[in-house]
Amino acid sequence: MAVPSPAVTAAAYTGGGDLRAMQELSSRIWSPASRWHAGDLAWGRFQHTGREPEWPTRLWRAGGTTVAWGWIELPGHLDLAVDPARAHLADEVLAWFAETAPGVRRSVSVLDSETHLWPALRRAGYLRSGDGPFFVQLTRDLDGLAEPAPPPGFRLRPVGAGDVPGRVAAHRAAFHPSRVTVESYHAVRAAWPYDGGLDWIAQAPDGEVAAYCLAWLDPARRVAEIEPTGTVPAHRRRGLGRAVCLAALRAARDAGATRAVVCARGDDGHPVPRRLYRSIGFGEVTRSALWVSALDEGDFQGVVGGPVDV
Ligand SMILES: CC(C)(COP(=O)(O)OP(=O)(O)OC[C@H]1O[C@@H](n2cnc3c(N)ncnc32)[C@H](O)[C@@H]1OP(=O)(O)O)[C@@H](O)C(=O)NCCC(=O)NCCS
Repeated sequence: MAVPSPAVTAAAYTGGGDLRAMQELSSRIWSPASRWHAGDLAWGRFQHTGREPEWPTRLWRAGGTTVAWGWIELPGHLDLAVDPARAHLADEVLAWFAETAPGVRRSVSVLDSETHLWPALRRAGYLRSGDGPFFVQLTRDLDGLAEPAPPPGFRLRPVGAGDVPGRVAAHRAAFHPSRVTVESYHAVRAAWPYDGGLDWIAQAPDGEVAAYCLAWLDPARRVAEIEPTGTVPAHRRRGLGRAVCLAALRAARDAGATRAVVCARGDDGHPVPRRLYRSIGFGEVTRSALWVSALDEGDFQGVVGGPVDV
């Protein structure tokens, strides 16, 4: 006799345990062409403080297993993950998005490799926008990593508790303007699967943090992700970004990772990170695209560059 599959129930996100459940889904369905890694979710949820009211989030579960989640960024953007074995749940995630963010043009970030999401997006009236900023997913295996070669006088090492203010200042300088604070970075450090041994800095001769790279390890998949890396403007183009990324990747490999992934802008609006990652052996696997809804018939004329259906 066939065993009935457990009923699917949906509930609003209620905090850290639910983030772990979202990370477990991303790990379970992970491939090199996947959008979500445990590190993305931890970094994304904790890099800023005070944003929870802007982020309605909902999880779908079958028995004890998370099978889909949606994370809205108000007023009208959605990120989602849906188990390809239950692709029809994307209809429910999109219906909840429409109810939660009514009366605006809605957008959804989807990778071109996430083809299991396309039918539901089409059914809900979304079209793939052909233009504007997008991201590429890059990957490399961790065999044959080069030795990091920082410029003379710079020291590579994992971050320590006493480095927190300097580490945050370096991030704020690299990503200016940035909402990352000492408080939010402490929250990142408290999130699973943060490991201080994978959070590397390049220290300048004067003691300043000149560059950093935070790697995250999904131990079940043995895959590391870089999220994020930065070099303060005064120290750029001296090989520090490359050196600190290689150091963090070597630490991730020593901790059990066999592969690494990273996400970078794929359009020409911000090409340098992509070049940095290519220069240390990453290659592109897939890209993201924005799928947009219309407010009414004919409204697609306003989409930058015009829609391209795929
Ligand atoms: C991306 C970033 C970390 C690069 O740091 P960096 O220390 O300047 O990088 P490196 O000097 O190690 O450069 C490594 C390679 O990247 C590429 N690169 C770096 N800067 C470049 C530039 N301005 N133009 C073109 N290529 C560049 C080159 O291939 C370079 O190798 P090469 O110098 O041998 O040609 C830095 O520009 C930065 O902090 N940007 C803002 C934050 C950000 O976008 N982070 C990445 C997203 S998570």
